[in-house]
Amino acid sequence: MFHSSTVDLAILKQRAYNLRWATVPEGVIPLTAADPDFPCAVEISEAIKEYSGSRYFSYGPPDGLPVFKESMAGYFRNKRGINADAAFIFPVDSAAFGIYITCKAFLNTGDEAIIFDPVDFLFRYSVESVGGVAVPFSIPAGTNALDFSGLEELVTTRTKMICLCNPLNPTGKVFTKEELLQLGSIAVKHNLIILSDEIWSDIVFQPAVYTSIASLGDEIRNTTVTVTGFSKSYGLAGLRIGAVMASNQVHFQRLIDASLHGSTIHGANVVSQIAATAALDKCEYWLSGFISHLQAMRDLTVNNLNSIRGFSCIAPEGCYVAFANITATGKTSIEMSEILLNEAKVRVVPGMKEWFGEGANGFIRVSFATSEEILQQAFDRIKTTLL
Ligand SMILES: Cc1ncc(COP(=O)(O)O)c(C=O)c1O
Repeated sequence: MFHSSTVDLAILKQRAYNLRWATVPEGVIPLTAADPDFPCAVEISEAIKEYSGSRYFSYGPPDGLPVFKESMAGYFRNKRGINADAAFIFPVDSAAFGIYITCKAFLNTGDEAIIFDPVDFLFRYSVESVGGVAVPFSIPAGTNALDFSGLEELVTTRTKMICLCNPLNPTGKVFTKEELLQLGSIAVKHNLIILSDEIWSDIVFQPAVYTSIASLGDEIRNTTVTVTGFSKSYGLAGLRIGAVMASNQVHFQRLIDASLHGSTIHGANVVSQIAATAALDKCEYWLSGFISHLQAMRDLTVNNLNSIRGFSCIAPEGCYVAFANITATGKTSIEMSEILLNEAKVRVVPGMKEWFGEGANGFIRVSFATSEEILQQAFDRIKTTLL
């Protein structure tokens, strides 16, 4: 399923946007946005075909199709150990929108939200879009160790939220249960909402063990909003589908109100909900094959990166991106990315503040959700250019 023969470059060059095949010059390999090069599981396209066969695409319920809500609740209960209630779950048209509406629901102008640094730009972007102030909590990239002593010092009377990205894009850190308990107890003590973005939670490499923060007891769960999506685990980015889970009626109502689903101005389309339900109900075998493939690609990527003079990269515990420190090359992230694009014909994501925060300076991010052949070709070109 994850061999290079399954990668259809002709289609990807027409359809894969967001810095990927459809946007790079011919001959360039884009190890950029985290979007797999493989077609999705066949059960997902079968479910879409079956639903479409009736030729009815009526309005769905604003808080989601019951089958979607039930499958999602089962996933959170069985795979994540969360005491989940389908009534408090609703689909959104992407995890990105889930992050945004959580900020909209719980932040007023001038309210502060603590975000990790480095982390995906969506957190700062969403906090600032609703008039909030994103306060960065720096964690060193290049190590999985984490010192939480500085986190509580960032809490002020204006702090309303802590944004957790677990596993953390771009560093690949998977938070331990002990770390999550520390974070949770700070949130409970100061009455803060925890926005837990778990879109990467399926993509975890042994021996790391994934823990959902909302599984750590009722007090923490009651202050947590969990967001997830289907772009990373099942390759459904273009279907724009994700889910938001509250833990009580008050939070659920605030989130639904913020979503504007009741007015039909926004909403997750029914076909995408059907596809996501099929992914949860029928595609576990596909996901475990994908994770096995990714574990091998992670090792190949990290070994190759560490063999380049001036590069150093720890093995990500989760996510299918490697975050390499390139400061010892004497080049900036942007300079290195330009050399790789222009000379090696490989596009990577530079560790710019706009993408990941200040803490990403001196790093480049490489996605490895492709075939071994494409990945090895990219590294051969990079090494020929840089060695
Ligand atoms: C941490 C994180 N959250 C959310 C998203 C966005 O996911 P979606 O495609 O569902 O909007 C991404 C995509 O890269 C991500 O890395």
